[in-house]
Amino acid sequence: MVGGVWVSDDLGKIKGVGPSTASKLRAAGFTTVETLAVTPVREIMSKAGLGEEKTFEICEESRKLMNYGFVKAADLWERRKNLLRCTTCSKKVDEILGGGVETQAMTEFIGDYGVGKTQICMVLSVTAQLPREQGGLEGNVIYMDTEGTFSPERVFQIASKRGLDARKILDGIIIARAYTSDHQCLLIDHLFKKCPEENAKLVVVDSMISHFRGEYIGREVLAERQQLLNQYLHKLLRLSEACNLAVVITNQVQSNPAMFYGNPELPTGGHVMAHACTHRIHMRRGKGGTRVAKVIDSPYLPENKASFIITEKGIEDTEKKAEETEEDDENQSQKI
Ligand SMILES: Nc1ncnc2c1ncn2[C@@H]1O[C@H](COP(=O)(O)OP(=O)(O)OP(=O)(O)O)[C@@H](O)[C@H]1O
Ligand SMILES: [Mg+2]
Repeated sequence: MVGGVWVSDDLGKIKGVGPSTASKLRAAGFTTVETLAVTPVREIMSKAGLGEEKTFEICEESRKLMNYGFVKAADLWERRKNLLRCTTCSKKVDEILGGGVETQAMTEFIGDYGVGKTQICMVLSVTAQLPREQGGLEGNVIYMDTEGTFSPERVFQIASKRGLDARKILDGIIIARAYTSDHQCLLIDHLFKKCPEENAKLVVVDSMISHFRGEYIGREVLAERQQLLNQYLHKLLRLSEACNLAVVITNQVQSNPAMFYGNPELPTGGHVMAHACTHRIHMRRGKGGTRVAKVIDSPYLPENKASFIITEKGIEDTEKKAEETEEDDENQSQKI
């Protein structure tokens, strides 16, 4: 049991998998029964070079071992008791998240440039390594940096200001610098092997969409872009369930020119992004340098807001209520 979830790297347990098939599967990055249970048959077939019938049987048997398929809601409830929550260091932000960023789910932080998305990701990379009783996940972190904005100096500052061994914290963060969308997809594919190997309990993708937006330009390639994005978002979600880890991604906003009243900020990535993410948190600037985070979409979290500030220690609570720090929509729209 890892993090309360059954994890088995004994592929020999799967009916029909002998030593040679097991080594083909491992070489293709399928190192656990969970991964085989949640990966589409076609993908396993092409990566491991196995026949359709054989791969289908392997998937079926893995799912049986994992007890996937039809489950009672009561059993699902039991399984979800294993989920862990990672603190953001702000009590108020943790509160709107239901106690922190959770495992077995994908949380998306959306917002304008400089609003603090990368800051939250770096804070979580520190806190994820803490013991559970201190709001951590007791695991390492894989940080996929697509924009080159991860700062080891900033992580060092956050950790040391919080009285932690900053060198040790940096040692627990594995950086995957993605240079293109293809490279990013390749790195995500590797996560199924890398996360159990490194005992990663948090995977950050900062940002999920910037390469896709930069490379797929024009309407004629939009469908292709969305399809690929969808495929990789679902892989991340499956990873979070299979390894009981938290996936945190960031997303930018674009202004909606058709909007005359209210907040014109629209998350990028359209419906694909909206449907794939478990919890969507929108961040915006508030009065006096504060920031306001708001849950905008979640299957069980109410649409609450929390204000916080960015400090040397990462992020911290403010005394003020979210409503007091929030600038009116008119001011916000002038900022875009
Ligand atoms: N050491 C620090 N102390 C206090 N505030 C800091 C510190 N370092 C960074 N900041 C604040 O964090 C902000 C940058 O936040 P961040 O880089 O997380 O933005 P972002 O939302 O990721 O933006 P982008 O979309 O451009 O990536 C800066 O505007 C600055 O105000
Ligand atoms: Mg950033």
